[in-house]
Amino acid sequence: STLDMEVEQIKKGNYDHFMQKEIYEQPESLRTTLRGRLIPGDHFKAKGVLLGGLKDHLRTIRRSRRILFIGCGTSYHAALATRALVEELSEVPVTMEIASDLLDRRAPIYREDTAVFVSQSGETADTLQALEYAKSHGALCVGITNMVGSAISRGTDCGVHINAGCEIGVASTKAYTSQIAVMTMLALAVGEDSISTRARREAIIDCLGELPGVVKKVLQLDEKMKELATTLVEEQSLLLFGRGYNYATALEGALKVKELALMHSEGILAGEMKHGPLALVDETLPIIVIATRDGTCSKQQSVIQQLQARKGRLIVMCSNGDAATMCPNGASYVIEVPQIQDCLQPIINIIPLQLLAYHLTVLRGFNVDQPRNLAKSVTTE
Ligand code: AGP
Repeated sequence: STLDMEVEQIKKGNYDHFMQKEIYEQPESLRTTLRGRLIPGDHFKAKGVLLGGLKDHLRTIRRSRRILFIGCGTSYHAALATRALVEELSEVPVTMEIASDLLDRRAPIYREDTAVFVSQSGETADTLQALEYAKSHGALCVGITNMVGSAISRGTDCGVHINAGCEIGVASTKAYTSQIAVMTMLALAVGEDSISTRARREAIIDCLGELPGVVKKVLQLDEKMKELATTLVEEQSLLLFGRGYNYATALEGALKVKELALMHSEGILAGEMKHGPLALVDETLPIIVIATRDGTCSKQQSVIQQLQARKGRLIVMCSNGDAATMCPNGASYVIEVPQIQDCLQPIINIIPLQLLAYHLTVLRGFNVDQPRNLAKSVTTE
């Protein structure tokens, strides 16, 4: 009815679509996610994080033999983005599981395992079934959800709410960045009693505090992303190369482009390039290379050189001021983003890609908030 449409327009405020509103809300949604959870230190005590729903279980998590991250789609990507940090700070091996695949394999799970279930809605059927499965095997089950009172938050032994606020667009945006922030805090909490990582942990905590401000800055790339989108509207396919912390960024960027703009898109682990994907490279296929500054960026630099040697059509994402060093031979487009702590960089890097997917979708004339064939929460197998 016209009334429903008016109510919807009021909820969207000054934005054309919920997704656009949710992308722009990220400085605020992250602030809410972090609120009350960052604890300042002093001469005697290190800076820390407080996750109320987890504090009685940290010892068990620290002592577990393995941590499993379980989720679907974007929630799986958020977990993947934080895997390395959780391993680094906890020294517990972390294995990644897509919920449906864990169930298909009926993979072994033990009492000594911690299983972390990541889900925005908390109602995804596959994730929920994986939870029942892990529970029946006696693992400690932790929930990371956005919906208070959801099946996953009720069914887990403990957990953390991401507090990103209601997400309406089918494509997950602000929930993704808040999930990464929460799982970063989970890594910090699990690793909190180590002296050797104190400086690293405190640097990450400082960076978390500055995050909303940096996110606001990166949103200023909106016009540039729209401009880039106009050059890609007619394309059949878009590849994204990432590695390290930003392999997840490549997968998540590709998921946004395919589910919204209905364009084939693939996230590729750059270390795998020579094992197949390199054959696809020619003058026409657009390739986004994520090469922001971190421990892997010199490797990304050589990936860029090799792609250029094959005359690849490159769009390079690098840290502010790095364009000349990362792609001395030029690129068809450069996206410069603010540099922050390596493990939090995925939160910054996904935002231009969310904007790109958004503009591509509008330009191609597709439904932004309700892509065809998809539902916000997938409650059937
Ligand atoms: C994200 O843009 C997708 N629509 C989808 O992959 C989603 O992340 C997935 O279905 C998992 O949902 P959940 O986080 O609510 O469990």
